[in-house]
Amino acid sequence: MSLNIPHGGKLVDRMLRGEEREAALQRARDAKKIPLSEVGVADLEMIANGAMSPLTGFMSQADYHSVVETMRLANGLVWSLPITLPVAKDVAAGIRLDEEIALVENGNGATILGVMQVVEKFEYNKTREAMEVYRTAETAHPGVARVMGQGEVCLAGEVWMINRHPESTFLEYRRDPAETRKIFAERGWNTVVGFQTRNPVHRAHEYIQKCAMEIVDGLLLHPLVGKTKNDDISAELRMESYHALLKNYYPANRVLLSVFPAAMRYAGPREAIFHAMCRKNYGCTHFIVGRDHAGVGKYYGTYDAQKMFTNFTPAELGITTLNFENSFFCKKCGAVVTNKTCPHDSAQQVSLSGTQVREMLGRGEAPPPEFSRAEVVEILIKGLRNGNS
Ligand code: ADX
Repeated sequence: MSLNIPHGGKLVDRMLRGEEREAALQRARDAKKIPLSEVGVADLEMIANGAMSPLTGFMSQADYHSVVETMRLANGLVWSLPITLPVAKDVAAGIRLDEEIALVENGNGATILGVMQVVEKFEYNKTREAMEVYRTAETAHPGVARVMGQGEVCLAGEVWMINRHPESTFLEYRRDPAETRKIFAERGWNTVVGFQTRNPVHRAHEYIQKCAMEIVDGLLLHPLVGKTKNDDISAELRMESYHALLKNYYPANRVLLSVFPAAMRYAGPREAIFHAMCRKNYGCTHFIVGRDHAGVGKYYGTYDAQKMFTNFTPAELGITTLNFENSFFCKKCGAVVTNKTCPHDSAQQVSLSGTQVREMLGRGEAPPPEFSRAEVVEILIKGLRNGNS
């Protein structure tokens, strides 16, 4: 069996159980409470369940600077996104070094999610982070807007998770890396391709997934269900559409549908590296990178995400990327193709932008079957009509 070795060599497990959990919960009740943002909640879960191995907590200043400037942790391991816990200056001032704080949900703060021993507090340059990570400081970029709006001081330290967020969704599909690895092994899959998505699966997505499935044992369909921007289609509706698609068009024994709790950063090329490292931790040996992966607006070139991987050696990445060109339905070919496989001109292509599709669906108009399967379209139109965007 050759399931991928986790990033850094070992799957991190910082979920407290049994007596240790009870003791931490007891301490946390009297500790200072720090509410986590939606992104913070997702990060805590993914640090604790090992999806972000080798991270064991929110980043230290040394790791933060190293990641922002060199896309590596201070120890040299590839890591492309800062994973930090920013708080307001006055909140940071009220916390002592070595103090154990309670990480709580942002609503009424009633649920204690975890604890963290604060070993460092540091200020950081938001514009520099934006320019390095997102390649822009424009707040029209949703990832940059979030960075600009967050606290000025990062709290750093190892975390322990006590509870999942009470509103965690899709529990049945919320499999931690240890569970996906176990399932892959039980199914006898030696090679598994991970597919990141924040969209319904349209024909182009289906095409690249199935091309990949021809050369590996299994597909991990791994939709992101953490925070996305408001005009993205909701995870609930997407999940419904994945079920319909899998039921009708995929062999059940070759696909595992499971959710990825991460929040979307829209950091394009940097996020593609992050997505790949996390999927390696879930046990994937391969990862699909198509056009404008994790992009938004016109901030990144169509294939910048694919090029980003060439900054690292295959050994230090430890997961094989499968790159795909822009895929579309060609009327002459009568199939989904790319410019690599189709000789016809662009007038033959059935291509719609994400915005066009959303507008059509919103009007109750069905995009053509060459673009999206009828079963998927039906669910999306019904969902959007019921206000479930
Ligand atoms: S993403 O933000 O999660 O990357 P999306 O769900 O649209 O957005 O894409 C999922 C994956 O499919 C990404 O790797 C993306 O590059 C790829 N992809 C999406 N549409 C196409 C397409 N038409 N042709 C090729 N690759 C695509």
